[in-house]
Amino acid sequence: MTADRPFKAAVFIGISLDGFIAREDGDLHWLTSRGEAAGDDLGYDAFIGGIDAVVMGRGTYEPGLTYDPWPHEGRHVAVLSTTLEDGADPRVSVYRDLDGLVRGLSERGAKSVYVDGGQVIRAFLRAGLIDEMTITTVPVLIGTGLPLFGPVGGDVPLAHLSTRVFGAGVVQSTYAVDRQA
Ligand SMILES: NC(=O)c1ccc[n+]([C@@H]2O[C@H](COP(=O)([O-])OP(=O)(O)OC[C@H]3O[C@@H](n4cnc5c(N)ncnc54)[C@H](OP(=O)(O)O)[C@@H]3O)[C@@H](O)[C@H]2O)c1
Repeated sequence: MTADRPFKAAVFIGISLDGFIAREDGDLHWLTSRGEAAGDDLGYDAFIGGIDAVVMGRGTYEPGLTYDPWPHEGRHVAVLSTTLEDGADPRVSVYRDLDGLVRGLSERGAKSVYVDGGQVIRAFLRAGLIDEMTITTVPVLIGTGLPLFGPVGGDVPLAHLSTRVFGAGVVQSTYAVDRQA
């Protein structure tokens, strides 16, 4: 699946130092409060400016429904879910599996895809579909929660591209998946 797709896929996500993207109940205050204390947009505007399609799991889509305004106006949004009703939200396209999603993105001519949500990122990594990851780490251990990483079906060699240190001890590193290693 890695070779025959016309798009690049990137992750841009915030984590606790112990590797969680949300508390088990979905709480993100531990992350957003530290992101705000860093006093910077942490490179998000530059990143999202280069994105033409966003892919997320239902677990990320549903809490995001509270955002007002909708943050992805003008961008194709694809939600992976086996349970969401088709057509219930005209702003998104629902895909039932990864193969269908990759076909859909390819048919739409997507070039630069933002992949969001822990389970979905792991599914993309297992399928060899991630090209780059920017991981913003905030200085806190939350002990338990929803993980970013887990089994990905084998080692994923990475090339370190850059690291930036922001205020409030927020550290951001970008890696490319190293397909030559
Ligand atoms: N820290 C951050 O920067 C950040 C970023 C994004 C999200 N979050 C938070 O992370 C939490 C969600 O993450 P998560 O890992 O639990 O969930 P997720 O990856 O966003 O969504 C998981 C859901 O996506 C669907 N799914 C995943 N893989 C699939 C596949 N291969 N085929 C079909 N459907 C698939 C399933 O939905 P169905 O059950 O409907 O089948 C699954 O329950 C939320 O609390 C969100 O706010 C944090």
